[in-house]
Amino acid sequence: MWSITRHVCRAQKRTLATEITRAMSVQDDPRFRPMFDENPDNPLVHKHVLTAQQFDRSGILKVMKVAKEMHRLRQTGKPLKYAEGKILANLFYEPSTRTASSFASAMMKLGGQVISLDEMTSSSKKGETMADTLRTISQYTDVIAMRHPVEGSVGSAAQYATRPVINAGDGGGEHPTQALLDIFCIMQELHVDTLDGLTLTLVGDLKHGRTVHSLAQLLGGFNGVTLNCVAPSILQMPDSVIKQLQTSNVKVNILESYTEVMPQSDIFYMTRVQKERFATDAEYEACKGLYVLTPGQMTSAKDHMAVMHPLPRIDEIDVGVDKDPRAAYFRQVGCGLSLRMALISMVLGIPV
Ligand code: NCD
Repeated sequence: MWSITRHVCRAQKRTLATEITRAMSVQDDPRFRPMFDENPDNPLVHKHVLTAQQFDRSGILKVMKVAKEMHRLRQTGKPLKYAEGKILANLFYEPSTRTASSFASAMMKLGGQVISLDEMTSSSKKGETMADTLRTISQYTDVIAMRHPVEGSVGSAAQYATRPVINAGDGGGEHPTQALLDIFCIMQELHVDTLDGLTLTLVGDLKHGRTVHSLAQLLGGFNGVTLNCVAPSILQMPDSVIKQLQTSNVKVNILESYTEVMPQSDIFYMTRVQKERFATDAEYEACKGLYVLTPGQMTSAKDHMAVMHPLPRIDEIDVGVDKDPRAAYFRQVGCGLSLRMALISMVLGIPV
């Protein structure tokens, strides 16, 4: 009897120790800390996903492996139970069609459930601090996907959460899950296992586009990549991102036109001009409509080139391009579902 009690006490202590370690590890801001492998196959167990800088080559490839498996499982059509009994909070303080529904769908496809909160339904309307909202939501749920219009705010809020927080877009800052899904989509479209040696052309509003900030940073994990950044000078990729790429193996070309680089491109990544990030309508009007990809331009592209776009599209890809088999942007949305299923199961520590 005594030994059974002692055994139970030890087990309780072990559980408590695990809980404390977990709470501590998610409260540390992991942004500038290299990922450490507690589980060699899953570097994300109970971690926040806040920035592309968290992911080195090995981390990216581990996520891709799980995403590939999720993609395969989805195609079998069988219901999955990986996240049965778990709850995702979708905490979106900025409009979203794809990202919010993609996180919700991913959690439901894994057999879990979803609570959705936005600025109208959360107590932030009553003046609650972000810290208190995160502390509260952590009590109800197992993982939190958060979007906010202020750059850096998701990373700051995450330190108050005792559950993993996934950055679903912080203002003009980062969008790491979109960038990971972009990498997964590139691998699917080009039938490759790495991005080594590829040429990518990013076009449009590279200054405010958080998806391209994160994507460019992930490219640093691959060898021999050429990155063409095509934008008017006022909408070019931020210097901070370029500087970071210069420390990696990525060859960066800064351009205002894509005519000359399209024939060498393996990936052509269009973005919209981000109206909501401009100080005035006049400044936006001066920048919009500068680049429009048309079916005629596609004649100079490689046969296997994939056209991507994080969506929503405004007018930067002519609808005539949609019929071209190289138009990958709607398949990209499907890749996003598999990738988010992978990320949710990884941060929850569910073996796949
Ligand atoms: C992007 C975003 O929200 O940053 N959309 C998305 O998440 N798929 C791109 C955009 O809004 O232009």
